[in-house]
Order: sequence, then structure tokens, then C-alpha cells
Amino acid sequence: MGSLLPQLAIDLSRPAPAELVALFPVPVREVQLEIGFGGGENLIAQAQTKPDTGFLGIEPFVNGMAKALAAIDQLELQNIRLHFDDATSLLAWLPDASLSCIDMIHPDPWPKRRHWKRRFVQDATVMSFARILRRDGELRFVTDIADYAAWTLQRFIRSGDFDWTAQCADDWRTPWADFAGTRYHAKAARAQRPPCFLTFRRV
Ligand SMILES: C[S@@+](CC[C@H](N)C(=O)[O-])C[C@H]1O[C@@H](n2cnc3c(N)ncnc32)[C@H](O)[C@@H]1O
Repeated sequence: MGSLLPQLAIDLSRPAPAELVALFPVPVREVQLEIGFGGGENLIAQAQTKPDTGFLGIEPFVNGMAKALAAIDQLELQNIRLHFDDATSLLAWLPDASLSCIDMIHPDPWPKRRHWKRRFVQDATVMSFARILRRDGELRFVTDIADYAAWTLQRFIRSGDFDWTAQCADDWRTPWADFAGTRYHAKAARAQRPPCFLTFRRV
């Protein structure tokens, strides 16, 4: 972790490059972001299957970051850059319309009412997602906590900046075609809590 993280960490003390693809040592056509990647299962799988996409991964939990770094090292992935901190600072640093996709996979649900203000999805974060996603870019959110799904739907719909892409119930019951699963996703399945996959398109 000690030697690889400094090479892959995004330097927020410098302005972001005009084109985010310049962050990567290999040619990439577009850039995606995963917020709170945990152990990195989905991030690593996506980076493997889409070598011409650059991935930014954010995770403040040290064990998760160490696990992702070990996989990046072993697989010699060149299309991942990392942020080992809270997501807020990186979101503020990213240029307007610079991302094609943002994934939030089982973000902390904070089920108690008095903790709802800690949920990552708030009106202000939806505004910042709208700023950094390009037109037609997607924000993909999955949770096994029904109340957090309803909360998130409400905030995206009222923002006016996103369309919810679902046409029928299967659209939110079925995983995205490229979804690789994560530790929390498996935990929800074991507990028989069905996940809700929400996809919002930037208008
Ligand atoms: C419930 S876990 C899910 C982890 C992983 N996505 C999965 O599905 O296994 C939520 C993750 O979000 C991370 N997290 C919490 N608050 C965050 C924040 N403000 N910015 C970035 N990541 C955050 C936590 O460290 C944790 O790894």
C-alpha cells in the first residue's frame, strides 16, 4: 500500500486537468467514478473488463483501500486512480461534465431517522453529481434498504437534473449488465433483503 498508493492517488492540491482522461498513463475514452468502493470488488472487475475506460475509486476505509491496491498491483491495472478520503473533496475538485458514470454500491444506509442527515445522498450531493456528469451520463445506485431507495428516488426526481430510467419493475430488480457484485451485496442476499438498482440519466 505504501508504495503504490502515492502513484495512484489523485493530487487535489493541483487543479484538475481540462480533460480527466489525462489522469491515466494509458489511453482511455471516458472516466467513471465509484464512491465508497469497500473492498473494490466491483471497481476492479469493471476496470478489468473495460480497459479503455478510466476509473476513479473513492474509499476512506484503510482495509478496503489496501485490498483494492493489492488487486490493482497483482492484475497490473493501469486504468484506476484512487482517492483515500471522504468523497466530498474529490467531487468538489472534479470539472464540470467530466464523468460518464458514477456508481454508489450499497452506501451506508443510516436507517435511524436521527442519522438521515449523514446519508451521502442529499439534495446538495445530487446537485454536485449533476455538475460533474456529462449530459446522458448515468448515476447508478443500489441499496437493500427500501427506505434509502425511496429517499434517493425522491431527491433525484425533485432535482429536475435527472431522469429515472426505469420503465417497469424488472428494471430496478435486475442488476446492471456489468455489475460484478460486492461484499455488502452478498451480505444483503444472505439476509434475503432484495436490492433495488436505480439508474438516473443526466438530462
Ligand atoms: C456499506 S459499505 C459498502 C461498501 C461496498 N460498496 C460494498 O458494496 O461492499 C459503505 C462504504 O462507503 C464508504 N463511505 C462511507 N462514507 C463515505 C464518504 N463520505 N465518502 C466515500 N466513501 C464513504 C465506507 O467506508 C464503506 O466502505
